Amino acid sequence: MSEYQHFTRFSPSTGTGSPDVWGIYEADTGSVQYVMACPKTKKAALIDVVLNFDPRSARTSTDSAERVLNLVKQQGLDLVRILDTHPHADHMMAAAWLKSKTGLPNAIGVRTKKIAELWRDFYNLPNLDPTPHFDEFFEDGDNFDIGNLNVTVELSTGHTLGSITYFVGDAGFIHDTLMYPDSGSSRADFPGGSAKELWDSIQSILSRPDGMRLFVGHDYGKGDRKEPAWEAKVAAHKAHNIHVHARMDKATFIKTREDRDAMLPLPDLILHALQVNLCGGNLPAEEDDGHSYFKIPANRF
Ligand SMILES: [Fe+2]
Repeated sequence: MSEYQHFTRFSPSTGTGSPDVWGIYEADTGSVQYVMACPKTKKAALIDVVLNFDPRSARTSTDSAERVLNLVKQQGLDLVRILDTHPHADHMMAAAWLKSKTGLPNAIGVRTKKIAELWRDFYNLPNLDPTPHFDEFFEDGDNFDIGNLNVTVELSTGHTLGSITYFVGDAGFIHDTLMYPDSGSSRADFPGGSAKELWDSIQSILSRPDGMRLFVGHDYGKGDRKEPAWEAKVAAHKAHNIHVHARMDKATFIKTREDRDAMLPLPDLILHALQVNLCGGNLPAEEDDGHSYFKIPANRF
């Protein structure tokens, strides 16, 4: 999926209210997982950690999540929360495993329940329901503390109808709204997605201070970059982002995004991943033989 290897990069706090951020790159799916920490109290949260999945053998593994927990340990951080930005379509989330390992609460946006309503029909799984699988569902405008840091939640629809952004001081975890400036934005064609809403969400993100550090959810690589990249400031996106730079208008963005999305195949793991991610990263309930089975709709997509 990506042309890079596993890779970790640190972005230090810039002062009061600003988090230390580690981005841990998961090369199989080109995903960026984050550890965000209060430099003073060392309290920390995880964002969008990946559960590895090999579709050939339908086997999960926790290599990537273990790598993230190792970093937490090495840095002497005190983990307090497990966060996700949306139910990912291209990889499984490790929230359930992290929760079982650490006993910590997990959270996602409240409109994940609306996404489940769509997928209940696609999977013909009437009981598919995120409610019992997350400890907290954030609404637009909610806020909470990680040590001395205050985190604000903003609804950022478009890529999905329930994606949320976490803003913390001068940092924004903007998941699959934007990509690194040379790669533009993320697709908006999954069920419930909208290029128009994605534009509006991106404009809200880019109305933040020019110096804000924006952390994106993926990098699939660019031939001219030797390493994956995920952090760029608001000013850099406004100046250089190929899809949303300051000279781009809404109608052109929507057309460019929709034309591009029409060319993209479904993500490899979407049908496996969503039935797991809408349940917080839990595999389907075990059947009477003690094994878990995926349910894949035929000829629906
Ligand atoms: Fe996504």
